[in-house]
Amino acid sequence: MARTRRPLIAGNWKMNGLKADALTLAKGVADGAKATSNCDLLVCPPATLVMAVAEAVKGSNVLVGGQDCHPKANGAHTGDIAAEMLRDAGAAYVIVGHSERRTDHGETDAIVRAKAEAAWRAGLIPIVCIGETLAEREAGSTFSVLARQIKGSIPPAATAARLVVAYEPVWAIGTGKTPTTAEVAAAHVHIRKELGGAMSEASAVRLLYGGSVKGSNAAELLAAGDVDGALVGGASLKADEFLAIAKAV
Ligand code: PGA
Repeated sequence: MARTRRPLIAGNWKMNGLKADALTLAKGVADGAKATSNCDLLVCPPATLVMAVAEAVKGSNVLVGGQDCHPKANGAHTGDIAAEMLRDAGAAYVIVGHSERRTDHGETDAIVRAKAEAAWRAGLIPIVCIGETLAEREAGSTFSVLARQIKGSIPPAATAARLVVAYEPVWAIGTGKTPTTAEVAAAHVHIRKELGGAMSEASAVRLLYGGSVKGSNAAELLAAGDVDGALVGGASLKADEFLAIAKAV
């Protein structure tokens, strides 16, 4: 069946990268991206490198994103970054509500929603992350957790063109463990159904899977029902590995 939603392969570099290595990585991805026309490619470097990476991939089909933004456009918020600043630096996307932000910085669904709205205000597309912990999965509450996160984190004014949702089971992030393709597909079908209760264009929203995606398991995970791409952490730090995931689309 032909895909109706253009796949997106997004790299989340997290707190990794100094300028020299990051630019080599960005250029490697941009070079390899010439052979990748069947999906959108996005790299999300640390904030200090957004501008330099945007410059390095200019003219290629690689897009750049931030990893987080503050809900406000400016003001007395020491150490924070506004969506407008990311946009100004060359970003087109921003990840919001990553589980590491939710855990390390106590971000609630309401905060995540405010950040998604801030992204829109600045003209960025938010990638809103949701996902259950291992304890929640073992307690059988995966679907209710996802429903709660969708209700709380996705702003009511969402449209398909300006929203990406990433399903990232917390227990699969950086662990080498992944859900089965049946579990991924079930979660994605559930997420799309819940999105349908919140917005009219749910069938056109891109749903990414994230958590220990690498070159060798990408084809299988990307073929799971209702998966429109991947949010990649560790494997996005090597151009070859990241491009192998894109090729698996
Ligand atoms: P991982 O991270 O690919 O290293 O598991 C994914 C993510 O946190 O987005």
